[in-house]
Amino acid sequence: MVPLTPVVAFLLASVPFYANAQVQTPSSLIGTWSSGSGKVVTGSGFANPSNTSFIYPNCSGISYSFAEANAAGETWYEIARYRFTSNGSQPTCITAVMNWVHGTYAIQSNGSIVLTPNGDGYQQIQDPCAAVSNFIQDYNDTELIPNFWYAYTDPTLGSALQLYSFDGTPLAPLRNVTPATTVLSRRGNGAVKMNIGDWTLASTAATVVLAVAASLL
Ligand SMILES: *[C@@H]1O[C@H](CO)[C@@H](O)[C@H](O)[C@H]1NC(C)=O
Ligand SMILES: *[C@@H]1O[C@H](CO)[C@@H](O)[C@H](O)[C@H]1NC(C)=O
Ligand SMILES: *[C@@H]1O[C@H](CO)[C@@H](O)[C@H](O)[C@H]1NC(C)=O
Ligand SMILES: *[C@@H]1O[C@H](CO)[C@@H](O)[C@H](O)[C@H]1NC(C)=O
Ligand SMILES: *[C@@H]1O[C@H](CO)[C@@H](O)[C@H](O)[C@H]1NC(C)=O
Repeated sequence: MVPLTPVVAFLLASVPFYANAQVQTPSSLIGTWSSGSGKVVTGSGFANPSNTSFIYPNCSGISYSFAEANAAGETWYEIARYRFTSNGSQPTCITAVMNWVHGTYAIQSNGSIVLTPNGDGYQQIQDPCAAVSNFIQDYNDTELIPNFWYAYTDPTLGSALQLYSFDGTPLAPLRNVTPATTVLSRRGNGAVKMNIGDWTLASTAATVVLAVAASLL
């Protein structure tokens, strides 16, 4: 093991300074973010809205994407969540939820973020102890991210984002998994159940180009 030189020691000592730099600007949200081992990532590797299916990640986790405004002025978000919850009264009953939703986000004047779903989200719930143990249902909840969210640079995670659930509970820290923003966009006509149509992956470094005009959405 090479001993730390004074220079390295100095750099390490300075890390907390950078870790504390928290920013809350619209541009600091932009990107694709993933918790933990980064196995859960928004986009075509998680959900396939054309047939309301999921691709199961190897680990649980959450992922958020926030895109810059497209030509139509829409700011898109997408969320992929794979979570397990245990039931306190029945600890052996572990419920798994795969959840996919996207829509448009708006940063409010007070700094909170309102996520308005597009109407085509869905989730799969597996609860071995329930009467119906495995089913898929629509998910179209509007969500609020309270105004104390922030982006920061973490010594381990790198570019990171701290979000909170509506009740102020911190979500797992998210790290930037790609400089591009990965969201699924719809193309073709939506004249099918729950607007689930034909989807394509849109991903560019600077601007997300949605494959559809706003009129189709
Ligand atoms: C959904 O479509 C994908 C891609 O065509 C396919 O691989 C997958 O098996 C389908 N899933 C279901 C549940 O139909
Ligand atoms: C899960 O891990 C296996 C073995 O490493 C790999 O073959 C598979 O592609 C992984 N699945 C996903 C969705 O990442
Ligand atoms: C836990 O299980 C009990 C009994 O099945 C059920 O009544 C209750 O709603 C469950 N709680 C949660 C949080 O799922
Ligand atoms: C989904 O929620 C949004 C926001 O509340 C609403 O405008 C839209 O009509 C809903 N779509 C469906 C299919 O329920
Ligand atoms: C900020 O504005 C949103 C939307 O108007 C509201 O729901 C929320 O309660 C406000 N306060 C905080 C702390 O987010």
